[in-house]
Amino acid sequence: MNNGRGRRLVAGIGAVALSAAAGVVSSCSDEGSPRLSGAAERGRLLAAERGCAACHSTDGSTLVGPTWKGIWGENVVLSDGRSVTFDADYVRESLRAPNAARRKGVMAAMPAFDTQRVSDAEIADLVAYIKALSPST
Ligand code: HEC
Repeated sequence: MNNGRGRRLVAGIGAVALSAAAGVVSSCSDEGSPRLSGAAERGRLLAAERGCAACHSTDGSTLVGPTWKGIWGENVVLSDGRSVTFDADYVRESLRAPNAARRKGVMAAMPAFDTQRVSDAEIADLVAYIKALSPST
């Protein structure tokens, strides 16, 4: 693999993503959040607090990872050729073992989040939030 170069690239993108996240957080508070359930609102706060929002936008733009806008229920083709539905199980797998569930053609830049960093209950809140970003569901 392209070790040294890849790592520098990821570090560079991380810096850009962090400044983008500052923008995302402030634009959220400017607009106020749309009507979210309690769980979804907790998920929104967690996404900012745990750094997800630095890499995943909610407005359709691509930061480091795929946007969360309208993603729920989408068909995702993984790098190992599997095809999965974007659902709660996929979110969990993406957090616990990102390299086992990597979207085809994207960078392997999704950090793993173990139970110390994001608990199962917190994943449920994040799932509620991501789901709320797909209004048709
Ligand atoms: C450093 C940037 C970064 C951070 C921080 C990050 N992600 Fe990701 N994430 C990615 C990238 C890049 C991918 C695409 C690669 C993959 O699927 O593993 C991804 C993929 C995902 C996927 C699968 C999405 C898809 O459409 O294939 C989910 C779900 C996800 N991330 C959730 C989260 C959550 C929840 C958090 C916070 C707890 C988080 N991510 C934090 C970069 C990040």
